[in-house]
Amino acid sequence: MEDSMTAQPVVARGLEGVVSHETRLSDVDGERGKLVIGGYDVVDLARHASFEQVAYLLWHGDLPNPRAADELTLAMGQARHLPAPVLDLLRGPARQAAGMHALRMATAALSVGHADVDATDDESRLRTALRLTAQLPAVIASHWRIRKGQALIEPPDHLGVAAGYLFMLEGREPDPERVAALNAYMVAVIDHGMNASTFTARVIASTGSDMVSAVTGAIGALKGPLHGGVPGPVLDMLHEIGSPDRAEPWVRAALARGERIMGFGHRVYKVRDPRAEVLGEAAERLARWSGDRSLLDLTRAVEENTVKVLGEVKPGRDLYANVELYAALVLHAVGIPSELFTATFAVARCAGWTAHVLEQMADNRLIRPLSVYMGPRDRQLNAVF
Ligand code: COA
Repeated sequence: MEDSMTAQPVVARGLEGVVSHETRLSDVDGERGKLVIGGYDVVDLARHASFEQVAYLLWHGDLPNPRAADELTLAMGQARHLPAPVLDLLRGPARQAAGMHALRMATAALSVGHADVDATDDESRLRTALRLTAQLPAVIASHWRIRKGQALIEPPDHLGVAAGYLFMLEGREPDPERVAALNAYMVAVIDHGMNASTFTARVIASTGSDMVSAVTGAIGALKGPLHGGVPGPVLDMLHEIGSPDRAEPWVRAALARGERIMGFGHRVYKVRDPRAEVLGEAAERLARWSGDRSLLDLTRAVEENTVKVLGEVKPGRDLYANVELYAALVLHAVGIPSELFTATFAVARCAGWTAHVLEQMADNRLIRPLSVYMGPRDRQLNAVF
């Protein structure tokens, strides 16, 4: 029998295949390409539910009745107004920062003046979840307008999160078609199992820290191109490819240079990401409304050719479109500036992060894995001093 003291522990690189939590929030079935949010298929939710309804589902465990949904929408509208010190930060030091850097800086400041940020009762924690999710779009839009030298806009409180965000960015009430597409996007990406940013939020919460810290850390994790930082580069790629007939040679050349194709591949999904379906539908509706389907047709051609070429060049790796391919398309068609794509992802995912933090806090155990030491031992200090 092997001696347990000398056996080398197995390291799960990237924690691949490790189950770290039980959760009631969402389930990613990577083999069948299914995503369940609070018991419902994400495709059904994104087609029929509002972002506020699905946020409520995550925070409370059930979809709200119509009155509770209206109350939540209004409460989030009332909570979106930013405290003066946060606006000072956006006008001051954060003005130099772009995109996710500014969002991370300002989110960290959302604890200023928030009396119950460290409160541990359920009601205060829920209030903080609601407030943070409502304020992130205001942070992004305010920062955007400040950098452009434009006056800040306060939308009516009754406007939902998607409509309010566009209103704050653009300074006028947005078209319902664009609001609907943004809403579908936000529902599609609201939560996604134990992804890197959610895990980050739960690690921070598990130390007994607060929700503002957890969301700030999650924003840092989301920023990377292996997680949420990709839709901007996806759009650049689509523009660079330019036309459907150039898709195949472009992809072959990129792979020959050893590059990864943005918007393809996933740690869990071994089939097409189910969110690509919902977002593709939203893009189709927007294209019918605007009369312009050139980018949509290009994206479809890029997907078809990339899957074909990846199947040849990287056989057996099961590389298909992930959420970011169509996220870029939808966000662009909605009129969100590409610098704000990942920050907009954060707005939606904040509902998921905070729900996970609530779940972690309700049944906490410090998250503290082990490492295997591979460095030297028995070094002598007197060789140095
Ligand atoms: N383009 C080309 N090759 C890819 C690829 C892509 N988008 N994604 C994975 N691969 C290849 C890798 O090069 C590797 O090939 P190898 O076996 O020859 O070394 C193989 O597939 C496995 O990749 P691995 O890095 O182990 O996968 P992962 O589970 O760690 O990575 C992602 C998952 C999402 C990080 C990865 O697919 C990726 O970088 N995608 C592009 C960025 C992106 O779209 N990010 C958004 C994620 S939602």
